[in-house]
Amino acid sequence: MKKNDKYSNMSVIEAQYEAQKIAFAPFVFQVSKALRDLKVLEILNPALDKGLTFQELMDKLSLSEYSLSVMLEAGVSIGLILFEDDHYSLSKVGYFINSDEMTKVNMNFTQDVCYEGLKNLESSIVSERPSGLDFFGKWNTIYEGLTTLPKETQKSWYEFDHYYSDLAFDEILPIVFKNNPLKIFDFGGNTGRFAKKCLNYANNSSVTIFDHISQLEKAKKNFAADDYSDKINFMGIDFLDIKLKTDERADVVWMSQFLDCFSKDQVKDILGLAKDILNPGGEIFIMETCIDRQAYEAASFSLAQTSLYFTCMANGNSKMFQSDKLISYIEESGFEVTKIDDGVGGFHSLFSCKMK
Ligand SMILES: C[S@@+](CC[C@H](N)C(=O)[O-])C[C@H]1O[C@@H](n2cnc3c(N)ncnc32)[C@H](O)[C@@H]1O
Repeated sequence: MKKNDKYSNMSVIEAQYEAQKIAFAPFVFQVSKALRDLKVLEILNPALDKGLTFQELMDKLSLSEYSLSVMLEAGVSIGLILFEDDHYSLSKVGYFINSDEMTKVNMNFTQDVCYEGLKNLESSIVSERPSGLDFFGKWNTIYEGLTTLPKETQKSWYEFDHYYSDLAFDEILPIVFKNNPLKIFDFGGNTGRFAKKCLNYANNSSVTIFDHISQLEKAKKNFAADDYSDKINFMGIDFLDIKLKTDERADVVWMSQFLDCFSKDQVKDILGLAKDILNPGGEIFIMETCIDRQAYEAASFSLAQTSLYFTCMANGNSKMFQSDKLISYIEESGFEVTKIDDGVGGFHSLFSCKMK
């Protein structure tokens, strides 16, 4: 784990302030979301230079004096809104809350997928069971129930998932196809977005998506309109109970944002399976957002918090990796890491691996 100098030299006053930000963190989150969704930030946005008075804001928004004043006072105190000479304007932080796609995706994921369940974080930590998931249903992991979650929750989950992997997919295709693989197995292939990219990129290849049967129904629908029927296959599987019946072998096993859904021992079991079904000379590619390989502190911060989604909502026993741990699991499973590409799509590391 990296050192965090920022907090070691802080004054007592600063530290006490930071502690209050944590004590009131749910208030800060909810008022920021309200300022975004009730369009207060949007209305301040074009007025960045001179800003708007309270009365001008009242005139533009259908909110009472009381409603606007509680939001503005909170918004100014957390730095989303600037106040000078009786005028309110948008701060840089407010700009990110209102307009930055990544921030929006993260906030919606926090609100729609995690917020209720996070009340159970402590019991999840103690029991290594995702007890926050009880708010949605009785499943062992969120992945079994993903397609039956409430519509808004599913939307925010998929947008969060796709936002990060979509950024990376186009960049990594030349690396994955360097040795012209014909058969690709996509473990945790989800709705088939990577599979489609592969088939568009190299039309002599074929892809088999391995995932929960319920996810595959979504993936099949996404392929229904395309003429890929002879190149795409679907294999329903629960990787927590691997009884895979296939004689087929792969030139590439692709795992994107997938191994972080599993505990250490489960990761090794899955890598063992990958080894068994790989053709001689084949490669595995693992794409993960590792906490310790980020260029920006904001990214490491976000990933360390996202680990708590796995603890509380997803499965109770997995997390975002520190890369030295992931590399040791890969090596203990009989592979060697031949190359690591960092910063793929901004935040991912791509681990290219061959059998030892
Ligand atoms: C975080 S998503 C990543 C999806 C995709 N690979 C990407 O990069 O966007 C993890 C995927 O792994 C699948 N998955 C998780 N646990 C699984 C399990 N036990 N058996 C089968 N699939 C599983 C989920 O259904 C989901 O599609």
